Parts: sequence; C-alpha cells; structure tokens
Amino acid sequence: MARFTLPRDIYFGENSLAELKNLKGKKAIIVIGGSSMKKFGFLNKVETYLQEAGMETLVFEGVEPDPSVETVMRGAEAMKRFGPDWIVSIGGGSPIDAAKAMWVFYEHPEAKFEDIAKPFNIPALRNKARFVAIPSTSGTATEVTAFSVITDYKTQIKYPLADFEITPDIAIVDPSLAYTMPQELTAFTGMDALAHATEAYVAVNRSDFSDPLAIKAIQMIKENLEKSYHGDKEARDKMHIAQCLAGMAFSNALLGIVHSMAHKSGAVFHIPHGCLNAIYMPVVIDYNRSVCAERYADIAKCIGLSGNTTDELVDAYRDFCTGMNEKLNIPMSLKEYGITEDMFNQNIDRISKNAVQDACTGCNPRETGEKEFKALYTAAYLGEKVCI
Ligand SMILES: NC(=O)c1ccc[n+]([C@@H]2O[C@H](COP(=O)([O-])OP(=O)(O)OC[C@H]3O[C@@H](n4cnc5c(N)ncnc54)[C@H](O)[C@@H]3O)[C@@H](O)[C@H]2O)c1
Ligand SMILES: [Fe+2]
Repeated sequence: MARFTLPRDIYFGENSLAELKNLKGKKAIIVIGGSSMKKFGFLNKVETYLQEAGMETLVFEGVEPDPSVETVMRGAEAMKRFGPDWIVSIGGGSPIDAAKAMWVFYEHPEAKFEDIAKPFNIPALRNKARFVAIPSTSGTATEVTAFSVITDYKTQIKYPLADFEITPDIAIVDPSLAYTMPQELTAFTGMDALAHATEAYVAVNRSDFSDPLAIKAIQMIKENLEKSYHGDKEARDKMHIAQCLAGMAFSNALLGIVHSMAHKSGAVFHIPHGCLNAIYMPVVIDYNRSVCAERYADIAKCIGLSGNTTDELVDAYRDFCTGMNEKLNIPMSLKEYGITEDMFNQNIDRISKNAVQDACTGCNPRETGEKEFKALYTAAYLGEKVCI
C-alpha cells in the first residue's frame, strides 16, 4: 500500500491571492518573514482580503531565514493567545515552514520537538485551525509538501519535520509574488526545485503518481530557469508552477542524500539551501549512478539530451546540472563558495555523521554511511568527481 497526499485546493495563476476573500472563518494569523512581503505590499493585500472575508487578523512577523526552534515556540505562543481558526503563511520556505511547526505546537502544546522531529510522528491537526500557504519564492514548494525544515542552532542541525498532517489545506501559487525575487534567490530556489524533482524521480518511494510530476517539473525548469533568472516574466510564472509540481512529486516520493547533505551542512557553513543542493547534485548523480543509471538516463531522454548509451545519457544529465550552475553563477564547489580548508576539516566528521541520521537518507536509492558521506562532502568541497 502506498499513499499520495496533496493540499485539498491549489489556486494558481495571476490574482489567485484574491481567493483569500472566500475563506470562511473568524480569526486568521498571518505568518511572515522579515520585510519583503511588507515592502512589496503583499502583506497589505493579504490583510485586506482576509478582512473582506470578515476575519479578524493578527500578524506574526520576523521569521528568520532557516527558522529556529525558538521562533517556532514564540509563534505557537502567539497563536495560543490569539486563537486563530486559520493560519495564513506567506513568504519563502522559511516563514511557511516555521508556521507549519507553530501549528503543531498550537494544537498540541504538550508536544516535544524531539518527538515531532521523528518522521511521520506528528499528532492529528485541524482541531483548532486550518492552514493556507502562499509562496513568494520558486523553489521549496512547501505550500504543497509534508515537510517543514527547522534549525536547532544549539546543535547546528536542520531537522526536516515530515508528516502528511502538515501538508497545507490550501496552497495559493500566485506568480506575482515571485516577480520581486533578486537574481541570486531566483537561481538558488530554482536549483532547489531541480534537486527536488531529480531526487523524487530516483527515490525509493517514487511511484507512477510522482514520476510524471517530477519529469514535467524538470522539463519546465530546463525551459524556464535561465530565462527567469534574467527577468523574463513569463518564465518566472512557469517556474512558480514548475517548483510546485516538483513539490507534489517529492512530498510523496520523498528525497535523497542531496538534501541530507544540505540539511546537515547548511547551518554549519551558512550557505543557502538551494545553493548547496546545486553544488551537491552533480556529485550525488555520479555516486548514485551505480544503482539507478536508467532513471537518470530516462530524465536525460525526457528533456531531449543526447547520448547513445545509458552511461552517456547519465553523463549528459550530470553535465546539464553543472551547466545550469555555470549559467546561474552558482559556485561549483564549497571551496569556491568560500569555505576555508580549516572550516571544512573542523566539521567534516560531524556533518557526515549527522547526514546518516537525516530523514532523507533512507529514501536515497543507494545506501549511504558515514564513510561515503565523507567522500561525497570532500568531492563537493574540492569540486571533483566522487570515486566510490
Ligand atoms: N518544507 C519543504 O518542503 C522545504 C523544501 C526545501 C527547502 N526548505 C527550507 O526552506 C528554507 C529556504 O526557503 P527559501 O529558499 O524559499 O528562502 P527563505 O524563505 O529563507 O527566504 C530567503 C530570503 O529571501 C527573501 N524573499 C522571499 N521572497 C522574496 C521575494 N518574492 N522578493 C524578494 N525577497 C524575497 C526573504 O525575505 C529572505 O530574506 C530553508 O530553511 C530550507 O531548508 C523547505
Ligand atoms: Fe529543498
């Protein structure tokens, strides 16, 4: 038996934000990040629409990039005091992920972070509130996923919370929110989406439901990411949809060790999530190919890359990923990003050990232990091919 879960409603396209006017409820808490949603006028629109729906609103602001356990607890307290029946999260992956975790502690004040961090261990939600997610970046697809990534800054570990309970009820995928993304954010989040679709297509839990979503996402990313990076509006619209399709695929097929490596090194090296995925992806393709070359070759064929053999097609897909990094001005290695040898050497043992425990490691097509993670991180540090 397998399961495939998505939000009940996905509103998409221009002006889909206005759908908020039709929500039925009494009180909505709006969770945002720093200042971008306020500055570009989206917060104001959200408040106005919710008030038109007859709701009292409260804004919880200041969720930091890579949200902390402490921020989650503060947000849950604010929810307990206000008593919303809707949680409306708007912004990049960070505020939406934080709002998902706040939701858990709002509904279950007795829950412990370490318990809900265990995969598929979140108690039933929706007794107090339902959840709307409105993404402003085109990458994480958290608006449709069963994930929330929360960082414990004491241990410098990012925990991917995973449970279909936290799949939002409503996703609003309005491309106008993504128009204001600067170039670098467009590049990093776009490569995050490519990593989602690629990992979902080779993951052990992949299915006939997730495969077409992953392939369509990769095709759309190939056609549109570079153009979107250069500010093409239509391409940006397409990227907002493509990342969402990738999210539908990986929320159900789950991910692999590109993400395990990113989760365990992100908080240590202070490198944005999408940038790390972009650096790790070519290394992981070479590592995984001994067990799933046909799957990568399949992707290559579906997006029109050439190659006469399976091996040539896998090479072509790996080179396509590297080529995207080049076109988007993403560093090719951790060293090129600016991580010093000292910093790398001080952390390699710890991040390799932690990566084994990451929730995404078990879904990777090739089994991976500490020794292998060390080799993978080292190859990614130097920008070399992995030879194990
Ligand atoms: N839940 C999931 O399924 C999932 C999947 C992948 C990644 N993640 C997590 O999501 C987080 C990354 O999210 P992200 O990449 O969306 O970035 P983010 O939410 O951390 O935002 C990065 C920066 O971009 C700004 N920003 C956001 N939207 C903008 C816009 N439209 N215009 C201008 N500036 C804007 C923010 O203010 C912030 O400063 C990481 O913590 C990552 O681990 C979650
Ligand atoms: Fe991701």
